[in-house]
Amino acid sequence: MADTRPIGVFDSGIGGLTVLREIWKVLPGESTIYFGDNSRAPYGNKARSTIIRYSLQNMEFLKSKDVKMIVIACNTASAYAYEALRDKAGVPIVEVVTPGAEAAIKSTVNGKIGIIGTKATISTGVYKKAVEKSAKKHGMKNIEIYQATCPLFVSLAEEGWWDNEVTRLTAKEYLTPLKEAGIDTLVMACTHYPLLAKVIGETMGEGITLVNTGEAAAMEAKAMLEANDIAASGSEAPSKEFYTSDDTAMFESIATPFLGEGLPSGTKKFVTDVYKVENS
Ligand code: DGL
Repeated sequence: MADTRPIGVFDSGIGGLTVLREIWKVLPGESTIYFGDNSRAPYGNKARSTIIRYSLQNMEFLKSKDVKMIVIACNTASAYAYEALRDKAGVPIVEVVTPGAEAAIKSTVNGKIGIIGTKATISTGVYKKAVEKSAKKHGMKNIEIYQATCPLFVSLAEEGWWDNEVTRLTAKEYLTPLKEAGIDTLVMACTHYPLLAKVIGETMGEGITLVNTGEAAAMEAKAMLEANDIAASGSEAPSKEFYTSDDTAMFESIATPFLGEGLPSGTKKFVTDVYKVENS
């Protein structure tokens, strides 16, 4: 039976729109509700308990909209809060870390993998563990993992400086050690980074494969919808709703270039603080 309920997607702000864009590509018949917690972003430099609390509140909000699946479209929230959310979701839940790690292992040839993300994501070590687990699963030995935090990339992406001199200099500063280590695969473990893919790719040089964790997560969402028999039939036009916890006009003006279309319009405001949740 076709399930036309929407998929709920959340992020600390607008970065998760790069994941949403991939979901639209892979699942064009599915309705989506996106929530950007812009008023409390960024999450990437916050404490574990704060990130978990915010993420639980975001999920409660999406659940109040009768979603059939939750996608944590934020690497930081996935790294810190996935387990807490999974236990309370009540619907299938997709995070971005495991699919991103799997994609990295499938792509590498020389076994040298780089991971770049926010301070919070990298400091958990969750990605490193996920890549090691995936390597083990695929019988791959001698994996070398190199990590770097690239906090300024988030601001550069939000500023729309996706391809300019400041971004190139910043990328060179952050990425040179990874380049010198000889990695052949680089996981962009932050939702904002795919917007800087051109500069990141050019800085790393030829022979590098960039892993977009949003793309990998969208494929995972598709597989999970099918496994749970909750995919939409595609016969009805899907709806696309947007909510932000901050200014809606501001959200729309920053979000539009992320989505590459004239969307979103009609964004509504929702302040998640009304949800009292307990950190598990
Ligand atoms: N969405 C976050 C991530 O993927 C980046 C922005 C933030 O720090 O909140 O890690």
